[in-house]
Order: sequence, then structure tokens, then C-alpha cells
Amino acid sequence: MTLISPWRADFPGLRALDADGQTYLDSAATAQKPQAVLDALLAYYAGGAANVHRAQHLPGERATRAFEATRDKATRWLNAASRDEIVFTRGATESLNLLAYGLEHLFMAGDEIAISAAEHHANLLPWQQLAARKSLKLVVLPLTPAGDIDPQQAAALIGPRTRLLALSQLSNVLGRWQDVQPLIRQAQKHGALTVVDGAQAVVHGRQDVQALGCDFYVCSSHKLYGPDGVGLLYGRRDALQRLRHWQFGGEMVQQADYHAATFRPAPLGLEAGTPAVSGVIALGAALDYLERLDAAAVSRHEAALHRMLLEGLQRHEGLRLLGEPHTALACFTVDGIHSGDLAHLLTEQGIAVRVGHHCAMPLLQRLGVNGAIRVSLGLYNDETDLQRLFAALGKALELLR
Ligand code: ALA
Repeated sequence: MTLISPWRADFPGLRALDADGQTYLDSAATAQKPQAVLDALLAYYAGGAANVHRAQHLPGERATRAFEATRDKATRWLNAASRDEIVFTRGATESLNLLAYGLEHLFMAGDEIAISAAEHHANLLPWQQLAARKSLKLVVLPLTPAGDIDPQQAAALIGPRTRLLALSQLSNVLGRWQDVQPLIRQAQKHGALTVVDGAQAVVHGRQDVQALGCDFYVCSSHKLYGPDGVGLLYGRRDALQRLRHWQFGGEMVQQADYHAATFRPAPLGLEAGTPAVSGVIALGAALDYLERLDAAAVSRHEAALHRMLLEGLQRHEGLRLLGEPHTALACFTVDGIHSGDLAHLLTEQGIAVRVGHHCAMPLLQRLGVNGAIRVSLGLYNDETDLQRLFAALGKALELLR
């Protein structure tokens, strides 16, 4: 029996891509959106757009209510203890930059920040640049060949000098879940702050920030079937209070004169200027959509499809996976073949995959490759997509050998 996705029909973008002869296997870069998200965007604009938190008029009140409803939904979605612990940003990258600037005042020369070798640039460069500004040491926790953070080496490297630990839960290259909880606990024993990058993880399993016990958690809407230009920053109440304001402008102010100002606490104090009103409202629609799905059925579907992906890829001679992916994606190279050439032939056959360093250059260097092809799955992909991929891959490899 062919594995089909019962949710595929909810995504009009896939119908359009099908009509264009495109097989979309790049959901780790950005996901297609369900009709409910498109409806929410249209309803906000067609129903009369208005700014939030500023106006007393009816459209303004309506927009503020819908906008703030997403804060409640995100609070439930991540199981935060309070809605005041959810800050809207422009994406996971902005959330991480906000942290790197907002926490800067807590560091002194010689302090250490620990990350893993598997980090995307978004969870590397803000810390690397902070380290350069404040003469800190960036400590990189090594990986096992499968792609796990090596627990012994991590235990030796996280210590009294560690002031902050920042880890992704699911790498966008290795597709491997990291067991971040014990590392969070270890760092916190030494008084360090902990940041979890959940940009890929939230898409493939419900996350509970209180159970994780981290101080901060970041993710973006556009991978989570919501619109782009919106991200979330969760911060435990006491951790958020340690952040300095980092962007200044409208609606984050308590009191201002020409020479001085005082600022609101989080979350509004960290949301300067007009936010992505339509995007935040539509993220709420994406979260509602996901809430309505049978999460166990989605997990079973994604696991079965991922198994099929790995089996199908490994049938090709000389194909090497990067690490041992657990879920959602697979990155690979093929012996003797340039990934760019292979990607070109896949693109010509309508297979939409990502090729290159996947914004994780240092990781690819450590793995000894210049570039790799990544196939990534969303809940709407099914076996037909994989059959098209395998057929195109077979043809491309035949041509290149
Ligand atoms: N971080 C996204 C990716 O891995 C853009 O493709």
C-alpha cells in the first residue's frame, strides 16, 4: 500500500507546485502553509488592517485581540508558565541575536559560551560575535560520528567558567535529536544560562519548555507551517528580567522625554515598533491547525516516510549520509560526484531539495565535505514524492557516472 499523507490536501501551495511539476522536499528551509493560515492572512487584511496596542478604535481592538490570542496559543503550544514569557520576534535568528545583545552585560572577559559543533549559523554567529566583543571563549562541544553531542567531552567542557550554553535540539543538517536536558542541568549547576534553538525541533514533535528546564527557547513560524517574518522567544520569567532592552522605538516605552526614557518589561518591552501583525495572527492559525491534528498519527507518518527515505537513498551505490539522521531529513554526498552537479540534475527534473553548506559551514568542514544535498520532509509529503526523488536521483547518477 502506498503511504499517503491525509493532510496534503490542506496545503494549496503543494497543488500549485504539483501543477508546475515540482516535488517539494525542502521543508526544513521553509514549509508550505495550510489553507487556514492563508485564510487568516486574508481575513486580517480584507477585514480592515489596524495596528496593535495603540488604538482605541474597533479595528485596532480587533487586531490587538487576535494578535494577543496568538501569545496565548504559543504559551500553550510550548507549555510556558505564563503568557508574559512569550516574545514575538522576526524569526529564530532575531530571537538569538536579541539574546546575544540583551545578555551582553552579564559577561566578563574570559567567560565561556558553549555551543555544539552541529549549530546552524544562527546559533553560532551571534555568540561568536558576542565572544569577540567581550573577549569571551567560545567552546565547541564535539559530536560522535552519529551526530550526537559527545556526553563525556561535554561533561568535561561545561564547567565553572561556562556562563551560557546554547544548543539546537534537532540539527538542520544531521536530523538528529540531541539529548539537551542533562546538558542544560549540568550548565545550570554551574550557574550558566541555557538557550535551546528549537527551529527544526518544534516542527516534528511537541516541545515543553518547562520540562526541558531551559532559560530561553527560540523557534520560527515559517518552518512551523506559519507565515515568515515571525519568530518566538520564550524566556522563563526570571531569565527574561535579566535581558537588557535591545531595540528602541514605539510601544516599548513607559516614559520618555528628550533626554531619557524608561522601558516596559518583557514581553512588550522587547517588541519595539510595529510588529508583524498579520504574521502573528496567522501563526495563531497555524498553531490551531496543528492542535487539531492527531499528533501521534503525524509522528507515525513522518517516521514511516523517513525510514523509506533512508532506505531508498542507501540503495544508491556510493551515497553517504551525513551522520545518522533520526527524523525529518537526510543530508548526503555521493562518492566521486560534485553535489552541485547532482543538485543541478535534480532541479532540472523538478526535485526541490537544498544543496550547499546549509548555513552550517563549520559543521560541514568538520565532516570533511564542501557541500551536501539535503532532502527534508513535511507532514504533507508522501511516498509519491519519494518515488519521484529516487527515480530522478537514479537518472542523475547514471548521467554523471
Ligand atoms: N535554516 C533553514 C535551513 O536549514 C533555512 O534550510
